[in-house]
Amino acid sequence: MRVQAPAPPVPRRRFRPYNTASFAAHPLLIKPMQALLNTAVKAARRAGEIAIRQLKHLDEVGVRNKGISDFVTQVDEAAEECIIATIQKYYPDHAFLAEESGNRGSSEYTWIIDPLDGTTNFIHGFPVFSVSIALRIKSRLSIGVVYDPNRQEIFTAIRGRGAQVDGHKIRVSGRRYLDDALIGTGFPYRSHERMKSYLAMLEQVLLNTAGVRRPGSAALDLANLAAGRLDGFWEFGLNIWDIAAGSLILREAGGLISELEDKDDYLDTGNIIAGTPRVHDALKKLLTPHLS
Ligand code: IPD
Ligand code: CA
Ligand code: CA
Repeated sequence: MRVQAPAPPVPRRRFRPYNTASFAAHPLLIKPMQALLNTAVKAARRAGEIAIRQLKHLDEVGVRNKGISDFVTQVDEAAEECIIATIQKYYPDHAFLAEESGNRGSSEYTWIIDPLDGTTNFIHGFPVFSVSIALRIKSRLSIGVVYDPNRQEIFTAIRGRGAQVDGHKIRVSGRRYLDDALIGTGFPYRSHERMKSYLAMLEQVLLNTAGVRRPGSAALDLANLAAGRLDGFWEFGLNIWDIAAGSLILREAGGLISELEDKDDYLDTGNIIAGTPRVHDALKKLLTPHLS
């Protein structure tokens, strides 16, 4: 049984289909996709609050090592449980694919969750991390939410209806050429298999663009790219929960994202190249010769 989103008594407010401020609208006025988005926004904000509260007491946070340079904290786990519980309250039949707890249930509706993207930053108190929640309906990414709790910015998208930050429509930047483009990336740090190839790419990007940034939260990097704050991005070996929400937000903001080697779906390989349409193409041309 599906329980509808909460119903504060404000039926007089005009329904604004793309505005997350319409979160308080009466459920009978909320269309199904908007209700799903509202639930994801609520879950993301709650998870972000957990992280921000704990940021002041970092010395108390328990950290475990999942693998080489792969950390998990109590905050990752608590935030993930909070997100799943929030969504399950309204959509008890939906399935989940979450970074810390894996697969739960099976449904045409699967929520793909990274409760804390940028855990290494978080552990050090470096204020760049995010919460990433996407909804895949059948095989299509349909909803994306990335929350930046440090700036309290919420990036959202519904497939086919554009992308927003805090309820305001966003578009990728108008940059067309690499020489004035700011490019984001993620350094390889778990697997060093492709280090040589990556460093050759980095050299080319440093030589041919306005600058390179490695903020440390791939979900937020894609959201910032969607908002025109970066012009391109590439990284190898990401997981689906790092990129599901951000890639939908980016595409809905007019950006392009593809698989670095044009092999399979970028969501499966996690090797991505992204940007404004022109920067995406130019970056791909620049990087392809250095693939190995
Ligand atoms: C990581 C961040 C980082 C990226 C890594 C991801 P996590 O996610 O997105 O920016 O470079 O590849 O794994 O582990 O902090 O959730
Ligand atoms: Ca992540
Ligand atoms: Ca994570």
